[in-house]
Amino acid sequence: MNKIDILIRGGKVVSPESTVEAAIAIVGERIVAIGDEALMPPAAQVIDATGKYVIPGAIDSHVHFRTPGYEYKEDWHTGTGAAALGGVTTVFEMPNTNPPTGTVAAMEQKIGIASRDAHVDFGIYGLLAENNIDQLADLAAAGAASFKCFMGNTFGNLPAPTDGAMLEGFEILARLGLRCTVHAENASIMARRQGKLEAAGRVDPLAHLAARPAIAAMEAVSRATLFAEWTGARLHIAHKSSRDGLYFVRDAKRRGVDVTVETCPQYLLLTSEQMKTMHGLAKVNPPIREPGHDVALWEALHDGTVDMIATDHAPHTIEEKRRDTIWNCECGFPGVQTQMPLMLTQVNAGRMTLNDYVRWACVNPARAWGLYPHKGVLQVGADADIVLVDMALERDIRDESLFSKSKISPWHGWRTTAGPVLTMVRGRVVAKDGALVGDRGWGRSVKATQQMAPAAPRNLEHTTESITAWRP
Ligand code: NCD
Ligand code: ZN
Ligand code: ZN
Repeated sequence: MNKIDILIRGGKVVSPESTVEAAIAIVGERIVAIGDEALMPPAAQVIDATGKYVIPGAIDSHVHFRTPGYEYKEDWHTGTGAAALGGVTTVFEMPNTNPPTGTVAAMEQKIGIASRDAHVDFGIYGLLAENNIDQLADLAAAGAASFKCFMGNTFGNLPAPTDGAMLEGFEILARLGLRCTVHAENASIMARRQGKLEAAGRVDPLAHLAARPAIAAMEAVSRATLFAEWTGARLHIAHKSSRDGLYFVRDAKRRGVDVTVETCPQYLLLTSEQMKTMHGLAKVNPPIREPGHDVALWEALHDGTVDMIATDHAPHTIEEKRRDTIWNCECGFPGVQTQMPLMLTQVNAGRMTLNDYVRWACVNPARAWGLYPHKGVLQVGADADIVLVDMALERDIRDESLFSKSKISPWHGWRTTAGPVLTMVRGRVVAKDGALVGDRGWGRSVKATQQMAPAAPRNLEHTTESITAWRP
């Protein structure tokens, strides 16, 4: 073998199945060898990982980078910079920007912005809405790596599509074979309850939870899985927050429905007890729930019902998070930079192994979006998306040191006992020792290499397209 570009030596390489001491050889953007250091050819650059663990970069299936439209909350430099600093090498970005990413023009605009500014690789979500069902195929061709359907109201106030439009959208996505992510909360239940709560004068933090009970999420999860089963569309349940409804997912998976589920650190580590004291700070959709749901979500990760950890990185300004009543506070908070240190701290606390973490943060999202095996795994031929992890790195999370424009998060003051110390995206170091070192624009869309499993549409004779084409 000729001289290689980079050799990462001395570290322990982690997969879901194994942790082995090995060196990794990189040429250009790819891993070309993994094994005994003594067998590796000379390298132009050597990265010493002694005492560290070497894991695939995390893939975050759920971030909001706000641009275009809400640049004051976040842009692609600050959002993907935070990702790089947090050990996240690929993000999937949500369409509730302004304009929403529901037209080919909006998709092209966002891909242009992201390509110019991103530090990490990205997939762009196209919007599935009432009035753009006829454009879904064009959106996919224009670069949508996945789709997002807001079944319930949240930031951006994008109206939920009717069931008729959603079903027709699923018919089309089933043919395309792409995955559709749903914000699964029932819009009308929440609107009615919020109206009654406001009329009754409730403005306390728990009123937000009262407006969005688990039944609203359960109903939407069951409806979305039913539509996915009928049409053969691939489904992803965003930000699973409650134990209720997990049985719908278990049952759907058992029947062979291609449904994946994410949960987030806030649902694993916080409960409504913290919401009482944090006021609008911990306001998020779906809400953080009563104690007990957190325990069930951990169990669901361990038994495979929940597939992955995402962040729902949802930046807002300090002012927007600290308004007078809970109804006026914006929902969500930043998380893409803090997910890995928080979850690795849970590894040290014994709630999972580092192998589990790699399965939930790297491998499973790569599989769900057709990026496996060039991403999510450290093996020959894969992209060199690599993170060096120090399992003894003690830090306090501080709002002011977040790279996001949103300098306010519920994690302020949390002590973490582990974290990423180096992040590499396709063979280039993008962050090191807490500083961003790469250039904007290195990140690129995953669409070109995305390979979803063959589409498996069902009930084709009943699709809107078939019934309207049919003649007696
Ligand atoms: C998200 C946002 O601000 O864009 N907010 C949130 O509370 N989760 C929207 C969303 O994911 O529902
Ligand atoms: Zn959502
Ligand atoms: Zn979100």
